[in-house]
Amino acid sequence: MTIPSNDTLTTLAAEYGTPLWVYDAEAIRRRIKQLSAFDVIRFAQKACSNIHILREMHKAGVFVDAVSLGEIERAVRAGYAVGSTSDTAEIVFTADVFDRAMLDRVVADKIEVNIGSIDMLHQLGERSPGHRVWLRVNPGFGHGHSNKTNTGGENSKHGIWFEQLHEAVSAVRAHSLTLVGLHMHIGSGVDYGHLQRVCGAMVDFCRDLGIDIEAISAGGGLSVPYKEGEEEIDPTHYFSLWDEARRQVEAHFKHPIRLEIEPGRFLTADSGVLLAEVRAVKTMGQNLFTLVDAGFSDLARPAMYGSYHHISVIPGPTPGDRSAVTLPTVVAGPLCESGDVFTQTEFGTVEKRDLPETHVGDFLVFHGAGAYGATMSSNYNSRLYAPEVLLDEGKHRLIRRRQTLDELLELENV
Ligand code: LLP
Repeated sequence: MTIPSNDTLTTLAAEYGTPLWVYDAEAIRRRIKQLSAFDVIRFAQKACSNIHILREMHKAGVFVDAVSLGEIERAVRAGYAVGSTSDTAEIVFTADVFDRAMLDRVVADKIEVNIGSIDMLHQLGERSPGHRVWLRVNPGFGHGHSNKTNTGGENSKHGIWFEQLHEAVSAVRAHSLTLVGLHMHIGSGVDYGHLQRVCGAMVDFCRDLGIDIEAISAGGGLSVPYKEGEEEIDPTHYFSLWDEARRQVEAHFKHPIRLEIEPGRFLTADSGVLLAEVRAVKTMGQNLFTLVDAGFSDLARPAMYGSYHHISVIPGPTPGDRSAVTLPTVVAGPLCESGDVFTQTEFGTVEKRDLPETHVGDFLVFHGAGAYGATMSSNYNSRLYAPEVLLDEGKHRLIRRRQTLDELLELENV
């Protein structure tokens, strides 16, 4: 896990206030390098879509996945090209539906589309014959760190059901669409046991497709350790399984096949922390609560999935040796809602975490917050979006300032 030093974080808190997101560019570059065996790394920007982070990705030769008009616009402004400037599109739009504005943009800018429903094929085909498309397959099974991040199987809305692939290919042919490849993302939180089956399914679908392709995509889902002691995924092993699948697909089509991967959290999760200040400490019966100035409107993952984020304490002005004792502590935020708790299970049960005794003015650092942190923030309780800072080579840059009250209200024409 990347941990900017306590001194750095304290200095940044003094300059920009809290809550504050802090990322480390070097940590992102390290993760990119670990996946360099893949022909294309396509960043699932929903994990961390700040334009400055996307520029770092662009500089490192990483391409990008987009899932909305907003994400397309971010990619374009970060320097990614739209349209078919090369065989390998820099931006691919992935979705299960087109809203009308999105369909117009995809057609106008010839943006490659990773298609998740047969209706999308018809809607695009009628407007843009020849358009380059992928088929996202739901192989009938999936896996996720929580039910909410499992994107395969019949309870998932994602992708084209594997038994309907022939129907999809007929629609591709009927509309003279160009099939780029098959894509499979069965959920967030890869499990090796599953992986053999995923790769095998990809090979089977390719063999049975009846139409040529250029590429396959392994989707995303690679995790990083969130808890201390959790095992790291071995990217070399992960690549070798997919590479073997690629070889079998190549043997079938009798030409080279590009192998893409589409990670989100693997690239950015452990590059980022959320920094918050302790604003109250109180006991409720048996429970000790430490309340900070960040809530689930900032970091939604614990409230949404029961996700675990390691929490460390930076002592503030109150004197005392914080490492002397630890106390079972519930860490919660300022929102007017009981579920605004950072230490809870998937089922919403409050959990206690052993933390050093905290005092008002201490800072809490939520680790592993560089993916699905700032991007899942909301204005709930009319709280303002927190700023983001990027550290690189000993310097820091404010890459998003704090939202203002005027900006919060400006859409309401007051
Ligand atoms: N590709 C597709 C088509 C996806 O839907 C996703 C994630 C990814 C790639 C990247 O998955 P990753 O490598 O980051 O696991 N908010 C949840 C995660 C939702 C993921 C949605 N799709 C979380 O905080 O864990």
